[in-house]
Amino acid sequence: MLWTAALCLLWASTALAAPAGGARHKVLLISFDGFRWDYDRDVDTPNLDQMARDGVKALYVTPPYLTLTSPTHFTLLTGRYIENHGVIHNMWFNTSSQEKKPYYQTLFVNDWWDNGSLPIWITAQRQGLKAGSLHFPGTASSYQGQVAMVREVEPLLYNYNNETAWRENADKVMGWFRDRDLDFVSLYFGEPDGTGHRYGPDSPERRKMIEQVDRTVGYIRRSAADHRLDDRLNIIITSDHGMTTVYRNGLVREITLRDIPGFSFRDLAFHLVDYGPCGMLLPKPGRLEKVYGALKGAHPHLHVFKKEELPERFRFSRHDRILPLVLLSDAGYVINGYFPVQFNKGEHGFDNQDLDMKALFRAVGPAFRRNLEVGPFETVHIYPLMCHILGIRPELNDGRLSATQHLLVAGGSGGTPGEWTAPWRQPWRRNLARVAVFTLWLETLRPGRKSQSLVSAEEPEPDSGPGHQEVV
Ligand SMILES: *[C@@H]1O[C@H](CO)[C@@H](O)[C@H](O)[C@H]1NC(C)=O
Ligand SMILES: *[C@@H]1O[C@H](CO)[C@@H](O)[C@H](O)[C@H]1NC(C)=O
Ligand SMILES: *[C@@H]1O[C@H](CO)[C@@H](O)[C@H](O)[C@H]1NC(C)=O
Ligand SMILES: [Zn+2]
Repeated sequence: MLWTAALCLLWASTALAAPAGGARHKVLLISFDGFRWDYDRDVDTPNLDQMARDGVKALYVTPPYLTLTSPTHFTLLTGRYIENHGVIHNMWFNTSSQEKKPYYQTLFVNDWWDNGSLPIWITAQRQGLKAGSLHFPGTASSYQGQVAMVREVEPLLYNYNNETAWRENADKVMGWFRDRDLDFVSLYFGEPDGTGHRYGPDSPERRKMIEQVDRTVGYIRRSAADHRLDDRLNIIITSDHGMTTVYRNGLVREITLRDIPGFSFRDLAFHLVDYGPCGMLLPKPGRLEKVYGALKGAHPHLHVFKKEELPERFRFSRHDRILPLVLLSDAGYVINGYFPVQFNKGEHGFDNQDLDMKALFRAVGPAFRRNLEVGPFETVHIYPLMCHILGIRPELNDGRLSATQHLLVAGGSGGTPGEWTAPWRQPWRRNLARVAVFTLWLETLRPGRKSQSLVSAEEPEPDSGPGHQEVV
């Protein structure tokens, strides 16, 4: 009787939202770069459809502005808007030396990434969990001296669209979860972004690439089952941004800064243009108004803002790295410097309010509800959701758990990040566990009961840290 009561208490202290088997929830965060929210509408995607029936599907998710790969991925990992985490562009640059580094080289500029915000790997590890990352932007860098425990960075000139390699990477990550008992892994695929740029989002090539992505989603879920991770692993599939068709072939008047009357590159100390629809300018001292005046209203699809005048909703003003003048163009237009030098048929980087910049979101696993379709939310809210599932205390962030909590099964309870309490610090839970342990101990004193039974009951040790604790 006492024994049963004790077991009930133990159960009550740990069972809410704990996955079957009582083990800690694991999370796999997958990004398919440039997967626009509606890419599954003109392609047969049986595996994504099955995942939606087994889990949660959002109509779309809104990335932060500006909608470029490294900045938006770092928002997924930190829950911070770009102006707050500081990875403000795919390219590192130095306005004094004029030096710029392309996307791949920038992955290795530690100072660029380690600018005050901690990605979830480091936070999880500091709280006793194990984290890994494969090819996710930000993986190569260290943060306050720490790196993801298990990590793999792609080599230069990596072939991002090789389906066989995708499957090997999926199996590798499942092996990390099973054999090295990782709790969190982020996994990145460079498609359908590459195909979307090259052939355009409405091309048959893009549709074919979505079929490849869909096959891979099926493969990943089968691999999780084969590795016996089904009852513990939560899989989130999302993306960094969408894609839109660029107007070409004389269809429209392109934006070329050099052709704008009154504008001169000689008034600039530094410029970052020829990068899709995003531009930033540093005028020479005393020339800001001149440059601004020349560009303002110069082209109906070019918008120029003084950094501090950028509408609040962009959340792209505050950081020192953002240059004094910010340029952005309407969907379909890119910003060229001296000549039109951009030949992609698809592009991103546009206003995150544009529907073509929205990304997909799917999730499945023991923490998530089944067969649930929800409305849109911002990708900044995925971070507190992941922290909640993992049972870790989030860093200061711009997301809200309340924006994503309805995706979770009952028992995914807990406060907003502000009032969040780690599960092992919640007094009711700790006390319940203590009562249970005490009752079990009493039970061992009774004659005829072997103390071994305590071992199988897995005594919770409230102050031993998160490694032994269950998830709320
Ligand atoms: C930027 O370039 C200047 C001039 O070459 C140099 O003094 C400075 O150290 C550089 N800054 C960084 C962060 O590389
Ligand atoms: C972020 O980087 C800027 C330079 O780009 C630097 O001035 C600032 O101190 C850095 N902040 C942190 C917290 O690393
Ligand atoms: C694709 O990846 C597989 C496995 O890594 C490799 O053996 C194969 O050579 C690759 N094919 C191409 C075309 O890169
Ligand atoms: Zn891209």
